[in-house]
Amino acid sequence: MSNNPSDRFPDWNNLYKQDVKKMPWYNERLDADLENQLNLRNITKGRFLDLGTGPGTQAIQLAKIGFEVTGTDLSENAILKARELDNSIKFIADDILHSKLKSTFDYILDRGCFHVLPPDKRSRYTKKIHEILDDSGLFFLKCFSIKEKNLTYGPYRFSEDEIRYIFSKYFVIESITDVVYQGTLDPLPKALFSVMRKKI
Ligand SMILES: C[S@@+](CC[C@H](N)C(=O)[O-])C[C@H]1O[C@@H](n2cnc3c(N)ncnc32)[C@H](O)[C@@H]1O
Repeated sequence: MSNNPSDRFPDWNNLYKQDVKKMPWYNERLDADLENQLNLRNITKGRFLDLGTGPGTQAIQLAKIGFEVTGTDLSENAILKARELDNSIKFIADDILHSKLKSTFDYILDRGCFHVLPPDKRSRYTKKIHEILDDSGLFFLKCFSIKEKNLTYGPYRFSEDEIRYIFSKYFVIESITDVVYQGTLDPLPKALFSVMRKKI
């Protein structure tokens, strides 16, 4: 598997000219691990950022259950399509590595964006997430796990220790759980779901 991000990943903007329902990460329902955390913690309202929203499914489900949602993605085509599905959500084209986001959010979901970023950009990413997360907010991260061995392509994979190493400068890690990445692949890829608080 190439370590060069431009060989490893598609051109995100072009990709979203295609049918989003065929994409490996397409999951019409709310991510089961996020739903579980929201229920456990009795979280029902607040400002939610769906970072790297892609097809917009997670943003749409979060808005349906009462959150004030912003969805951002690098791909303008993804944003245009997501807006067509729900124009009550603030869908914005934004690269998290050069982000123009200024406001803060009570909750941030990253389901699949962090694990496609170039490794040398991870510290820039963590700094920005820290900046836009409210002091009492929560950050939910789903990424591929090092235990995923079936796929020979795609996102970077992480161990629990790597997640701790990358995020502990700016975040207190509340939990990291072995899960799967719900989408259209069979079997579903092995993933990690992390819940973090901001260090203040
Ligand atoms: C694996 S997809 C996941 C999409 C969506 N979160 C979901 O669960 O369906 C990763 C997404 O991250 C977006 N992305 C990649 N690099 C990004 C960046 N630097 N800033 C914002 N979005 C980015 C891609 O365009 C793509 O839509």
